[in-house]
Amino acid sequence: MPVYAVAVRIVKVPLGKRSYEIKIGTGLLARLGGECRKLGLSSQCAVITDSRVGRLYGAAAVNSLKAAGFEPVRLTFPAGEQQKNLTNVESCYTQLAKHRLERKSFVVALGGGVVGDLAGFVAATYLRGLPFVQVPTTLLAQVDSSVGGKVGVNLQAGKNLVGAFHQPRLVLCDLDALQTLPARELRAGLAEVIKYGIIWDARLFGRLERQMARLVTNDTAALAAVIARSCEIKAEVVGKDETEGGLRAVLNFGHTVGHAIEAVSHYGRFLHGEAISIGQVAAARLSRELLGLPSQHVERTIQLFQTAGLPTRLAVTPGLQRRLLNAMKLDKKVSLGALKFVLARRLGAVEFGCDVPDALLKRTLSQLNT
Ligand code: NAD
Ligand code: GLY
Repeated sequence: MPVYAVAVRIVKVPLGKRSYEIKIGTGLLARLGGECRKLGLSSQCAVITDSRVGRLYGAAAVNSLKAAGFEPVRLTFPAGEQQKNLTNVESCYTQLAKHRLERKSFVVALGGGVVGDLAGFVAATYLRGLPFVQVPTTLLAQVDSSVGGKVGVNLQAGKNLVGAFHQPRLVLCDLDALQTLPARELRAGLAEVIKYGIIWDARLFGRLERQMARLVTNDTAALAAVIARSCEIKAEVVGKDETEGGLRAVLNFGHTVGHAIEAVSHYGRFLHGEAISIGQVAAARLSRELLGLPSQHVERTIQLFQTAGLPTRLAVTPGLQRRLLNAMKLDKKVSLGALKFVLARRLGAVEFGCDVPDALLKRTLSQLNT
């Protein structure tokens, strides 16, 4: 599909001295160097990317930086969630040292959430912290992972167990990059967009209902508007609660069950967005039982995920139910607290820190069969 230029939208993440902008538009990768210049960054930098994104967009990023007078070095690791690990972090450190990056040098994270999390963690820790710029190339990264400063990697023992909060200096969302994204990855990103409608903005939810057929075809103009609105919501939440003392937990709607689904399927069967699609269906049903979310809103939620081509059902055998509950309890141990859920009172309004009785949770997991 041809990509038409759309006006650049700018969303501010309000964090005092560490505030930054998210720029959303077409043709932005070519402007990377100029945008970094405006930030007053020093000349040496590293573009960290994965093998797939590097092949597609690495040269454009490096050329733009060079044209603006920077001296970029490109670091590439293999694509895939399994690669978000400390071995690749160490290999980045080694290369940064070899190329003599200094305290004033900066890192560009070019890729999806895996690259953003890993490169951001490298930036957070090398020489006790370098500035970094996010250039997210998946829908999920543009609406979620590149914003808010959560960076980190996985251990054998679990996902995202090592990390930091390190805010980027700029997020550059080039909509053109989405044109090469596989359809399944685009749909997975839409699961996070739908989440913003449920937790924060009923009008966004309505817009998604009207436009989902266009959005799944990768329509740039339709995507631009919903990406910008998603970023506004994430920016507002992060601005109020950067380090997840409370409110930021609302971003985890559907994630308790979703993470358990990912864990029991060893991160192989479902993409994150697919797992949280099923998780949000479970959370909507729990919300109906505990907070009186109208049945009609539950039905609209399920319908919207289905229109987006996302899964809403799971064959939950008694054995799988046990494994899912165990996985959720492991999450609970990690957080050193009780298992808490984010639940919706109505579309656009959620509460966090909700208790769910065990029997209701089991019943809700069984309902995923239907
Ligand atoms: P990903 O980074 O693995 O990207 C998915 C695949 O698409 C990869 O193979 C990648 O090489 C490829 N790809 C990326 N951009 C492309 C493009 N424009 N064209 C073609 N192919 C492209 O996955 P993701 O879904 O972007 O991110 C998932 C990661 O994000 C997980 O590790 C998750 O934990 C993390 N995450 C972090 C946060 C946060 O707040 N930090 C939030 C949500 C998710
Ligand atoms: N993706 C959840 C968060 O950033 O808090």
